[in-house]
This record gives sequence, structure tokens and C-alpha cells, in this order.
Amino acid sequence: MRMSKKASIGVTGLAVMGRNLARNLARHGHTVALHNRSEQRTKELVEQFGDEGDFIPAYSAQEFVDALERPRQVVIMVKAGAPTDAVIDEFVPLLEKGDVIVDAGNAHFADTRRREAALREKGIHFVGTGVSGGEEGALHGPSIMPGGSKESYQSLGPLFEDISAKVDGEPCCTHVGADGAGHFVKMVHNGIEYADMQLIAESFDLLRGAGGYSPAEIAEVFRTWNSGRLDSYLIEITSQVLAHTDAASGKPFVDIVADQAEQKGTGRWTVQIGLDLGVPISGIAEAVFARSLSGASNLREASRGLGGPSRAPLTGSALDTFADDVEQALYASKVVAYAQGFNQIQAGGAEYGWDIDLGKVASIWRGGCIIRAKFLNDITAAYAEEPALPTLLTSGGFRKAVEDAQDSWRSVISTAVRLGIPTPGFSTALAYYDGLRAERLPAALVQGQRDYFGAHTYRRVDREGSFHTAWAADGRPESSA
Ligand code: 6PG
Repeated sequence: MRMSKKASIGVTGLAVMGRNLARNLARHGHTVALHNRSEQRTKELVEQFGDEGDFIPAYSAQEFVDALERPRQVVIMVKAGAPTDAVIDEFVPLLEKGDVIVDAGNAHFADTRRREAALREKGIHFVGTGVSGGEEGALHGPSIMPGGSKESYQSLGPLFEDISAKVDGEPCCTHVGADGAGHFVKMVHNGIEYADMQLIAESFDLLRGAGGYSPAEIAEVFRTWNSGRLDSYLIEITSQVLAHTDAASGKPFVDIVADQAEQKGTGRWTVQIGLDLGVPISGIAEAVFARSLSGASNLREASRGLGGPSRAPLTGSALDTFADDVEQALYASKVVAYAQGFNQIQAGGAEYGWDIDLGKVASIWRGGCIIRAKFLNDITAAYAEEPALPTLLTSGGFRKAVEDAQDSWRSVISTAVRLGIPTPGFSTALAYYDGLRAERLPAALVQGQRDYFGAHTYRRVDREGSFHTAWAADGRPESSA
């Protein structure tokens, strides 16, 4: 540990994510200033990992700022919300024009926009940055999604690209877009993460409930899938979770875990913003609702005796092909969830004036992050070929794969419905697919209803303009305007 030179970057907030980011930076040869509200954490980091690189521990905000090269680059890694504002308020008076504050936590992008605008007035760059990959990713190479000004990326970009994951030699980091774009994209990443996890969980439930497979057998099925087109971090860890036996009880680990999924909020934000933007992200929404339903213990307890069909597992040829059918259903539903997420990013970009390169987003999610997957290579290629692609579902490879999967997809969902196994993720994905490809939707009838009770008017298929029918008291049309 050298103490003589100044630090090229500083990290304040040294809980596990901050600590690992700081270590990652130091391991890549960058001198890192360290600061934490309580001195203990700073001391511990230096004691335990001081030999990994050049750290400059600082025990006051002023000391921390003084340790940094100009323009100063301060990474804040504290809890989203009020704690982030408190740290910003503490540091801003000590900083100068041109300095950069990076918020690498899971902030809401609207907060990031507000903070960026306020600090821009003072000449300070505020860079809301999505970081994905958990503790391990932060240490060994996360996927990094910085927003903020282009100017800030000139100094920050090389450092972040350096410590990010690499796929085919390319860094999993790019300047996503102005102000809150980085946190917006990270939010949608998490929404997709929820959908992906839910679809995998439904696959497990089906293989067990309809296919009669044991958790250990399902672990093996997932392990096989992980060497095909579903190759991804989430499939890999699912296989490991399912293969795990609880030492205390000797039971499959998955059977001793309470079946109530928790959430910290980013999935919920994705859905809230999806509603605001009017983007149908039903796969993500169902995944969030499925977690809420799992956690609604009183409601579930009260509903325990509600009748359902008998649950005789599949047999014969239906069973023989079932695992393959579920793979097809999972793949197709996953394409829908990603298609919806990318459309949300597109809509966010249009709403907030961000010039987001969707292919680039797909490419920086190929490594480091929780949803990293082979599949993201195909999404990267699809957007490279057609940057304004209306939906991933219409791009060549995906179109064919989903069309080829649809018989299995429909059959798996009908099996689930017949046996009473809930598959909200699979079902909503298929409904979205069928909704998009429908020649006519019953929305015409909804328009008729709206016009009837509220004179809300409708458009016609054969003429331009807005129309209202004067509905008679008995419901028959009197005249048309
Ligand atoms: C990541 C993750 C991470 C998130 C966790 C927990 O990209 O590294 O998305 O940011 O906090 O996955 O999320 P929930 O507690 O909401 O499941």
C-alpha cells in the first residue's frame, strides 16, 4: 500500500458492494481513496485487503476529497433514497466544478434525474450508474451501466470499462445515456431478472407437479439446458440450488425454504414505470405479482381449501417429451420477457430524450450481470442488424425459434391449466404473443362499451375521424355522428 500519490477515484460507503468495487479498482492498478461513515469498515478493508493494491484510507470527508486527483471522482455506494441524498449533501460543499459524483447504488432513475439536474447547476457531474452482478460481480467484474453526461464518461469510462466483466474481449460497460438513463436501464435489467426467475421457477414447478421429477432430477434437466440456448447464469445457479440437500433435515434444500419470495423494489418500479409509459410489460408484472401472491400468507391460508383439479402426473409419450416441451415454453416466454423489457427501454429513451443503443445494452448484459446469458448475443445481433426493430419477436432468429416452440408452449400451458399448476409467466407471455399477432382484437368492443356509457367516441376502420353513436335507452343505436 502506497500513500504518497493521489487517488484516481474514491469510494465512500464500504459495505460489501462498495468494498468489493474498491478492491476491484485497486486490483486493476488504480489508486483508490476509501471512506466510510464509521471508521471501522475503512480500517478493516485496509487491514484485510491492503496488499491487493493502492488504497488511501480517509477518516473524514475533507481528507477523502483531498486525497483525490482532479477532476475528483467520488463513487457513492450507500443505501438508495435518503442516505444517498445525505452523502451528496455532505460532499458537494467540498467539491469543485468539473468533479464527478457517481451513485452506484440501485437508485430510482427519477431521483437520479433530480440529483443530476441539481448538481449540474453547480457544475458537478452526477452519474447514476447501474451495477449488476452482486458481491462477486463487484469484485471480479460487474456489468456497469453509467448514465450522466458524455463528458463525465471520458474520465470515468476507462476506469469502469477496466473493472467490468469482459465478453469476447469487450467490456460490459457503456455510456447508456444522459442523466438517469443508467439507473433506468438497471431498473429494467432487474425487471427482466424477476421475469426470468419466475419463468425458471414455473418450469421447476411444472417438471415436478406435472412431470413427477424430483428436485435432483430437475437440477440435472437444468444442467443440460445450460449447455444449450438457455445457457445463462440464472439457469446455472438454479441447477445448483436444486441439487443442494439441506444438511440438517436431509431434505432437498428447496423444500425447506419458505415459499414466500421477497423483493426490494426494483421490479415493482419497473412495472410502475411500464404503466406510466403505457408499455405492456406483462411478463415482468406477473413476476412481481407472483412474488406478492407468494407473500400474501393470510390470503393463501384462507384459500387453502379451494377446489382444484386432480393432479395426476403425466405418463407415456406426454411425459417423454415434457422436459423438452418445458424448455421450448421457457425459451419462448423468455424471448417475450426480454422483448418487453427492451421495448420499455426504447419507450423510456423516447420519453426522457435518451439516445439509448439497445444493441449496446444487450451487449453489456452478456457478462457480469445477473441476467447474463448466451441468448444476449442473439439480442445484440438482432439490434445490430436492425436498430429500430419494433420487437425482438419479429427479428429473424427469434421469430423462427418462437414459431417452432409454440406447439410445445401451448401444450405446456394447457397441461398446467388442466392440472391446476399456476403459470402466470408462461401464460401471460403466450397471451402477449397471441395479442401482438392477432388480426383483430376485442378492443373494438371495449371502444363500443366506452362510447355507450361515456360517449368516449371511437375511430372507424373505414373512415378517418372520431365518432359517437347516440345510444338509445334500450341500447340500440339511434343514429351515428
Ligand atoms: C443485480 C441485482 C441486484 C438486486 C438483487 C435483489 O443486478 O446485481 O439485480 O441489484 O438488488 O437481485 O433484488 P430483489 O431483492 O428485489 O429480488
